[in-house]
Amino acid sequence: MYKIAVIPGDGTGLEMVTEGLKVLKAAGEKFSLKMETVNYDLGGDRYMKTGEILPESVLEELKSFDAIFLGAIGHPDVKPGILEKGLLLRMRFELDLYVNLRPVKLFPGVSTPIKDKGPEDIDFVVVRENTEGLYAGAGGILKKGTAQEVAVQESVNTRFGVERCLRYAFEYCRDKREDKKLTLCGKTNVLTYAFDLWERTFHELGPEYPEVERDYAHVDAITMWMVKNPEWFDVIVTDNLFGDIITDLGAMIQGGMGIAAGGNIHPGKVSMFEPIGGSAPKYTGQGVINPLAQICAGAMMLDHLGESEAADCIEQAVIKLCGSGKLKSLSAGQMGYSTSEVGDLVAENL
Ligand code: IPM
Ligand code: MN
Repeated sequence: MYKIAVIPGDGTGLEMVTEGLKVLKAAGEKFSLKMETVNYDLGGDRYMKTGEILPESVLEELKSFDAIFLGAIGHPDVKPGILEKGLLLRMRFELDLYVNLRPVKLFPGVSTPIKDKGPEDIDFVVVRENTEGLYAGAGGILKKGTAQEVAVQESVNTRFGVERCLRYAFEYCRDKREDKKLTLCGKTNVLTYAFDLWERTFHELGPEYPEVERDYAHVDAITMWMVKNPEWFDVIVTDNLFGDIITDLGAMIQGGMGIAAGGNIHPGKVSMFEPIGGSAPKYTGQGVINPLAQICAGAMMLDHLGESEAADCIEQAVIKLCGSGKLKSLSAGQMGYSTSEVGDLVAENL
């Protein structure tokens, strides 16, 4: 029996999560998996009603689950940063979810904005460090609002944090990928402290993973290559902010936010799975948001729980739908089907 904490969150999160759970339930029946879900009403509405974002007791409870299934965070009436930092980032930090795993895979039938590239070219994974870097919150503001104001925001990179993220990437590359090529994405020509540590650790660990070929690219160059030669990449490992940026680009080349999913992972501990896109508040309640990203997040969650057969089955069901030509587009409001109909189509394909 898997215990899953469900956090629909804000905006279209609830509609997405509903379809994600529909497909998980159908897969559960097919593969005789038992899942028990508990809902948590964390998000903008609760914050506005009670002032609570993530009570300590809830955080403790979350640790007792096998996984967390998250919709989206971000409310139009709450100042940007409050929920993002207080809820999403706090869960990543407090649960020590040190890897943000983001596959960039173009399914057959899905259109990419890159001319002349297809599914055989766009199939890689980004391993984003998820608990350090510029997201650590180190720094501060002095003399705020004056002409002498100083704002400092520092990137925190620890040997421990860098090493465990790199090891995850090496192991993922060795065990789950065919090409077995790991590209470190950094900025060693300018950020000569932080990425010196990353680069040294990368090459120090490399010999422990002789099957894995090592490569390096600066972050600015990688945004160029991801568009021009996406087939070069197999697994990319990088720090928190660079990973944030390049995975939005990755989502676009795999067909958009409608399909991009990710996992916030601590191997062996409760981990959290979510669509990469935001809460899209303007579409709330209209039944037009694309649930495929949430459904793919569900597949990643099953894979993480060790149910790789059920996970593959969901992915194949999504691939079949994408390849069928039924969906007019993956964008909200343009699919030719409602959110719930898309969930049904995937469930039927299982
Ligand atoms: C993401 C998001 C978050 C991030 C925001 C909402 C805090 O952009 O998951 O990529 O920056 O990590
Ligand atoms: Mn982001």
